[in-house]
Amino acid sequence: MAILKIARMGHPVLLTVARPVPDPTAPEIRRLVNDMIETMIDANGAGLAAPQVHVPLRVVIFQAPGERSDPGLSEAERFDHTAPLTVLINPEIAIMGPETEGGWEGCLSVPGLRGYVERPNHIQYRGYGVDGRLIERTARGFHARVVQHECDHLDGRLYPSRMADLSRLVFESELRHMQAAG
Ligand code: NI
Repeated sequence: MAILKIARMGHPVLLTVARPVPDPTAPEIRRLVNDMIETMIDANGAGLAAPQVHVPLRVVIFQAPGERSDPGLSEAERFDHTAPLTVLINPEIAIMGPETEGGWEGCLSVPGLRGYVERPNHIQYRGYGVDGRLIERTARGFHARVVQHECDHLDGRLYPSRMADLSRLVFESELRHMQAAG
C-alpha cells in the first residue's frame, strides 16, 4: 500500500476522459484500489477517482457517511443516502427523476475551496467491484452527489464546471464564517 500523489486542478490528467478497465479483477487494479483507499483516508476525502492519482482508468471509490444524511427521513429513505466504502469500476449512472438539489462540494484536486453545485438528487448506478461482482444501487442526497462528483472525474470534469453561480466558489475558511453567521 502507498499514499499516492493527488493531481491538482490545472494538471491535464484531470481533463482527460478515462479508459474502461478491461479486467476489474486484475491484480494491478486491486493494487491501485488499495492505494486509492489509503490515499483517500489519509487526505480525509469522501471520494477519489483514479485520474486524481494520475491513472486515467474508470475507477472510483467513495464513502457516504450516515451523519451527512437527513435524520428526519424514514429508515428506508435514509439507507440510500449513505454508502459504505465502495469501489466502482467502469461505473454508469442513470438519473431517475427531474429533481435537483444544491449542496457544497469540495475536491481533493481543488484543495481549500468549496463550491455550491446543483445536481440530480435521485440516481441509479452500477459498476464492478474488485471481485468482479456487479454492484447496482439507487442513491439520493449526499450519496447521489458523491457518486456523480467522482464519475465526473472519469469524464474529465471538475465540480466548478458544474456550477451555475461562480460567486458561490469560496474558500473553506470563508464558508465556515458564512455558516457561523447563518
Ligand atoms: Ni473530486
